[in-house]
Amino acid sequence: MSSAQSLSSTHPTFPPDPEFAATANGTAQLYDAAAADYEGFWADQARSRITWDTDFESTLDWSEAPFAQWFVGGQLNAAYNCVDRHVAAGHGDRVAIHFEGEPGDTRTITYADLLSEVSRAANALEALGIRKGDTVAIYLPMIPEAAIAMLACARIGAPHSVVFGGFSAEALNTRINDAACKLVITADGGYRRGAPSALKPAVDAALDHAETTVDKVLVVQRTRQETPWFPERDLWWHDALAAASDTHAAPAHDSEHPLFILYTSGTTGKPKGIFHTTGGYLTQAAYTNAVVHDVHPESDVYWCTADIGWVTGHSYIVYGPLANGATQVMYEGTPDSPHQGRWWEIIQKYGVSILYTAPTAVRTFMKWGSEIPAGFDLSSLRLLGSVGEPINPEAWLWYRKYIGGDRCPIVDTWWQTETGAIMISPLPGVTTLEPGSAQRPIPGISAEILDDEGVPFTEPEKVGYLVLTKPWPAMLRGIWGDPQRYRDTYWSRFGEKYYFAGDGAKYDADGNIWLLGRVDDVMNVSGHRLSTAEIESALVSHPKVAEAAVVGASDEMTGQAVVAFVILREEHVEEADEVGEGTDLVKELRDHVAKEIGPIAKPRTIMIVAELPKTRSGKIMRRLLKDVAEGREVGDVTTLADSSVMSSIKLGLDG
Ligand code: WT7
Repeated sequence: MSSAQSLSSTHPTFPPDPEFAATANGTAQLYDAAAADYEGFWADQARSRITWDTDFESTLDWSEAPFAQWFVGGQLNAAYNCVDRHVAAGHGDRVAIHFEGEPGDTRTITYADLLSEVSRAANALEALGIRKGDTVAIYLPMIPEAAIAMLACARIGAPHSVVFGGFSAEALNTRINDAACKLVITADGGYRRGAPSALKPAVDAALDHAETTVDKVLVVQRTRQETPWFPERDLWWHDALAAASDTHAAPAHDSEHPLFILYTSGTTGKPKGIFHTTGGYLTQAAYTNAVVHDVHPESDVYWCTADIGWVTGHSYIVYGPLANGATQVMYEGTPDSPHQGRWWEIIQKYGVSILYTAPTAVRTFMKWGSEIPAGFDLSSLRLLGSVGEPINPEAWLWYRKYIGGDRCPIVDTWWQTETGAIMISPLPGVTTLEPGSAQRPIPGISAEILDDEGVPFTEPEKVGYLVLTKPWPAMLRGIWGDPQRYRDTYWSRFGEKYYFAGDGAKYDADGNIWLLGRVDDVMNVSGHRLSTAEIESALVSHPKVAEAAVVGASDEMTGQAVVAFVILREEHVEEADEVGEGTDLVKELRDHVAKEIGPIAKPRTIMIVAELPKTRSGKIMRRLLKDVAEGREVGDVTTLADSSVMSSIKLGLDG
């Protein structure tokens, strides 16, 4: 054991290793600098990390709060910052992306290669009539074209809306329509668990509506499987790029020009189009990737295992590391294809030094056993990161020991689609690490914990609500097309002064922040955000379902799991002769949810019940259903309209 390990009351903490600290990008002085002059601090980050075509006049305009403007008057091009300037600085031969396909095919893409690909793609988009301000949907597997497509959109000022490849045609359709996309970039398919899996048919189904705004579909050839084709509408990506020039002058865009829209689940059934703009987002993505992931572009090999369809892929595969000129690994597939050591094999092969992944993956590897990573050389690793949900101390300690060789610091990073970039995290080389806690706001970020009345407190172990108390550069600029929903969702629970994150939190005796999960009707399954309302509405759209209630029940592997309680329509009640899982009807309902939203939203458990617990005003009491789903004694039922409902549900389940 290399570190001086000390024991706090319940578990070990890990002071920074002096050797790591000696070269770390993060320093204690950053906290002081940000505290002394908050706007000056961010202006310095923006000017030192980003290349501006026109310098900004003022750092922050908060006069129209909660609508912020950062780096006002500044102009820049995000793609230029992520690609061209590294080539211009003589790093054209540096590898930008080591791509590892699931079947084992590989591609090495240097910054010079990336420049010519992004330029060709930008020219191709323009040739298809895409102009600054037009929105483009991207529905791709984890292949380099995903990053190239995003950067090409950014280059010409066309906001992209990336839709996770695991979402259904229905979900894709809603997102395309909400943002009125003119173009879809997709692929024939991708590789999943050793076999090609089709993607394009979902796009065809999503566009099979009279009112679509989409003119063209650009299709990357990845699997070469048989693909339905509509010649007036569909074009191959490789044909379009081959016909385009490999040079493209990057125009300057306003700092506040929209860079992308990304949909995320909220408390209602309709997903929210979170949108981010250019200057502030890019600044904070680059800054956090430097000081939290401690990326040193000249020597590190960085790997973020997220999918490009989530914000983690946006900020920490595309914009942050590429703005910093880093070398990274991109992997297409699943961790167990073709064997359970695939990730460790990839780390050994490319000499990965920084690994950023999710707790659910760590827990899966724990289950598979430490002998699997032990069979590979992981000595290149020097930093580990975690994101997406709380990491339980047991998983944290396992991650450090078996993956990090007892030497790598772990950064547990709290943030959201809405925050755009990391907000709460230790700084490696500076912070004494506390397993299980995201610890403190990073320099430049301010957070507090409020009680029910909205009063900030610092007493340890008391549970409250996490809020952010100052605007930050990468903050969402709103919900696409719905400014009122933006105010209502984030800036009303505790008034206009506080951004309400939707997470419960507490301090420990050392002042560390512990995130305790969502306090709203949002679930977190394997680090993916799902809304109870969205799954409920998917269930009731099935002809046999009369009513549905969904809860997130704690699950050892996935953090939370979707559990649904369903009331059938009268004429189908007989079909539910057997209550519980495994019946044909339950399978039919689970598949229906997959079709409506995507396989990630499939309930783990569906319970057919005769009634749901409701208050006298008709509100479903999910708290009681959660008790049942988690196998607990059912709590206080006195506010139920009919207090016998819970015993009949329990009886139905036990009998
Ligand atoms: C929600 C945001 C951040 C990108 C991936 C998820 C939860 C995220 C942590 C963490 C505890 C975390 C929160 C948050 N969350 N990171 N380190 N510790 N909880 O983005 O889909 O927008 O979800 O994920 O509940 O509100 P997202």
